[in-house]
Amino acid sequence: MTEETPPQWRRHPVARLCLLALGLVLLSAPAWTESKAPGLANATDIDAALLASSCSGCHTKTETDEGFPLIYGRPASEIREALLTFRSGEREGTVMNRIAKGYNDTEIGLLSDYLAAQKPSD
Ligand code: HEC
Repeated sequence: MTEETPPQWRRHPVARLCLLALGLVLLSAPAWTESKAPGLANATDIDAALLASSCSGCHTKTETDEGFPLIYGRPASEIREALLTFRSGEREGTVMNRIAKGYNDTEIGLLSDYLAAQKPSD
């Protein structure tokens, strides 16, 4: 036995490392493709529902006399216009100016379409 022959064992750890690295890349690939942030380009109804879930703390599906206007089932263009004008400061409000600033144009579009598709209850 001499030290001359290229030791087979040496190639194996490298190959194993490569396979491990490839495996890790493949495992994490679904996480990349499922990520919607920041553009929400492939947004789904679930994304829209998640965004809208933060509105339901104040806006209920029935008209109340507590100063929270009904936003469900309204035309999407009205909701969109309201959010855009709250955001720009053109329209004044108590809380909606601050809330609207938290959403970009794509999100406002998603919210408007989602809320318009909801049925208010009697
Ligand atoms: C903290 C309570 C609160 C939350 C949360 C909230 N709103 Fe509002 N919203 C209001 C109030 C109060 C008004 C009346 C305007 C004002 O005083 O700011 C209003 C007004 C509106 C209007 C105008 C309706 C009309 O008839 O002109 C729209 C549209 C609206 N909100 C959408 C939303 C959306 C979309 C969300 C979630 C992203 C949301 N709001 C979250 C309290 C809230």
